[in-house]
Amino acid sequence: MTRLIPLWLLAVALSGCGQQGEAEDAAPQLPPTPAEHLAGIAVYESGCASCHDSSRDGAPRLGYLPAWEKRLPTGPEGLVQSVAEGKGLMPPRGDLADVSDDQLAQAVAYMIYRAKLNIPAGH
Ligand code: HEC
Repeated sequence: MTRLIPLWLLAVALSGCGQQGEAEDAAPQLPPTPAEHLAGIAVYESGCASCHDSSRDGAPRLGYLPAWEKRLPTGPEGLVQSVAEGKGLMPPRGDLADVSDDQLAQAVAYMIYRAKLNIPAGH
């Protein structure tokens, strides 16, 4: 009788572990995007996603916090300036010749939001 109780506990512990494992394997779900970022998504998809959905040319991937951690302290204005002027292999204004500074700022704000969520694109 004294041995039955530990075995029963072990069974519960193992089934609990199994459920946790499944939850960790499942793709993380993006929460619904706040309305303030909808315009930024549109700019991002048309002029930035070609590089930033992956890490093409060394671009920091959308939503992948480790790639953004050292860039976030630059602040939104500094990051927008990097995009406007171009940086490294990123051409000035990304893929969009006609994009306004406000639109670049919207795209960057969306990218900062996604970096902090830390749910990488493509998951
Ligand atoms: C042709 C590929 C490409 C496109 C298109 C592109 N990027 Fe980039 N982006 C890069 C690369 C590469 C880097 C890394 C530059 C470096 O640090 O050398 C980068 C870096 C950045 C950074 C960080 C800048 C910093 O100062 O650390 C931001 C913000 C950014 N991109 C936003 C954008 C936005 C917004 C768009 C669309 C308007 C865009 N990118 C389009 C390739 C691209």
